[in-house]
Amino acid sequence: MDIKFNAQKNREFFNMKIDEYDLSHEEFMKTKKELTDNLPYDVSRVLDLGAGTGLELIELFKKFNNAKVTAVDISEKMLERLKQREFGDIVKIICGSFFDVDFEKNYDAVISTSALHHFLKEDKFVIYKKVFDSLKDGGIFLNCDKIVNSNEEEQEMIEFYNSNINNRPHIDTPLSIEHEIEILEKAGFKDISVSDVDKENYRLFKAIK
Ligand SMILES: C[S@@+](CC[C@H](N)C(=O)[O-])C[C@H]1O[C@@H](n2cnc3c(N)ncnc32)[C@H](O)[C@@H]1O
Repeated sequence: MDIKFNAQKNREFFNMKIDEYDLSHEEFMKTKKELTDNLPYDVSRVLDLGAGTGLELIELFKKFNNAKVTAVDISEKMLERLKQREFGDIVKIICGSFFDVDFEKNYDAVISTSALHHFLKEDKFVIYKKVFDSLKDGGIFLNCDKIVNSNEEEQEMIEFYNSNINNRPHIDTPLSIEHEIEILEKAGFKDISVSDVDKENYRLFKAIK
């Protein structure tokens, strides 16, 4: 799957969904809070991948009101909504694809939720390597996202999307837990753990540089 095509599909989809997005994600607010709950107490510099309208940042700024957050997202409409939030002015906003934007270095934490299940294993590895390189030594990567239950299910999902790709408004290809761990390890992460969250098809992945 071409990564630029994939990114543009996501951009168009989330731009189009903007008016209903926050409401449709109300049921995911607990999964978003997992990120804040698992950040180290002294976290300061945070990179949020696929920050969208900033829903996960609501909790984050309640607990870490001095955090310096950079938000990367390809949908300008989602980011406009983020800018309208009370913390909108203090977040550094970068509109672009994960594959094109250069991530700064020395982050204490990189966080992401509901945003990285659109990429195949090899493309996701590219993102995880960039995340690894952007963290300080000992920094934490927290990703709370959709998974599938087996490698077979993962493959079926890919075939399903490939079979009719041009007619699909949105590309969801979550990986199995086994593959998630495999590429986190390959990117260099250690102390990788996986926890259940309140959505059955979601997991919280924690990984340390
Ligand atoms: C389901 S939303 C999640 C937003 C937010 N993290 C939340 O949990 O409410 C997924 C976000 O990922 C962004 N996204 C998808 N593919 C992207 C890419 N290739 N580069 C940057 N952002 C991307 C979308 O624009 C969208 O805002």
